[in-house]
Amino acid sequence: MTERAKEPGAGPLERRDPTLSGGVDAVLLLGRSGHQGAAGEGMVFLAEAVRATGRYLAVRTAIAERGLASLPEGLEACAQAGARKVLVVPVFFGRDRSLIYWLSKAAYRWSRARGEPGPEVVFAGAIGEHPALGEAVVRAVADAEGEASVRADDFQSLEDPLAWSVIPPHERHVLACLGPRCTSRGAGGLYVHFWKRLQERGLLRGRSSVHAAQTGCLSPCNLGPTIVVYPEGIWYCGLTAEAIDRIVDEHFVGGRVVEEYAREPGRHERLKGER
Ligand code: FES
Repeated sequence: MTERAKEPGAGPLERRDPTLSGGVDAVLLLGRSGHQGAAGEGMVFLAEAVRATGRYLAVRTAIAERGLASLPEGLEACAQAGARKVLVVPVFFGRDRSLIYWLSKAAYRWSRARGEPGPEVVFAGAIGEHPALGEAVVRAVADAEGEASVRADDFQSLEDPLAWSVIPPHERHVLACLGPRCTSRGAGGLYVHFWKRLQERGLLRGRSSVHAAQTGCLSPCNLGPTIVVYPEGIWYCGLTAEAIDRIVDEHFVGGRVVEEYAREPGRHERLKGER
């Protein structure tokens, strides 16, 4: 049983008004894309603001694609804090109903898979649809008028770094899916592990290196997390840290495809435990 411990920085629990919050005692701010951590930093700032209201037991952040933490990891963090009802707030624009629908399914899967009763999870509309956002933007634009942070002529040189004109030498090219479904299955953490493993094996530079690129959805979402390795054209699916270690050692170093995780294009398959 998790203890309902108060989060650092949260105000007294008595200040939370259940009639205002509808029983919500935790908030998970869900960003859309966490490319290179930039979205993550902005989310931390927003989380601090929500936390400062003192209304919630826990306020956490998650990223729907290309980042950490994933939605299930964020929900688990709320559950571990003792939350009974989590409000997931999409911090992005647009009425992407199919994404919200799928994310709610991912939350349901997380709830089913954890093996013990967890908090109720509800989704809010995207923050980009909220009418108050217009006022906030008007104010931010007015503030920026007098103190723009970068001028177009701050950088007098028209030269870009020389490295941007060279295709890095490599032996293999890997496309690593960090689309929303693979991300919710832990692809963000796996990609960090993959990169470290390549570094440990000396495979990040030189003619025999592996050139890895993060991508959006590659298509077979039910089989994620997924990578594709070229020039062989091998699709590796249902990846774990152990699978990554084997692929790096056996395939990239040893030259043998790891058949256990390789999937053939065109065949309908389900991973173990997939519903
Ligand atoms: S999100 Fe990775 S295959 Fe669709």
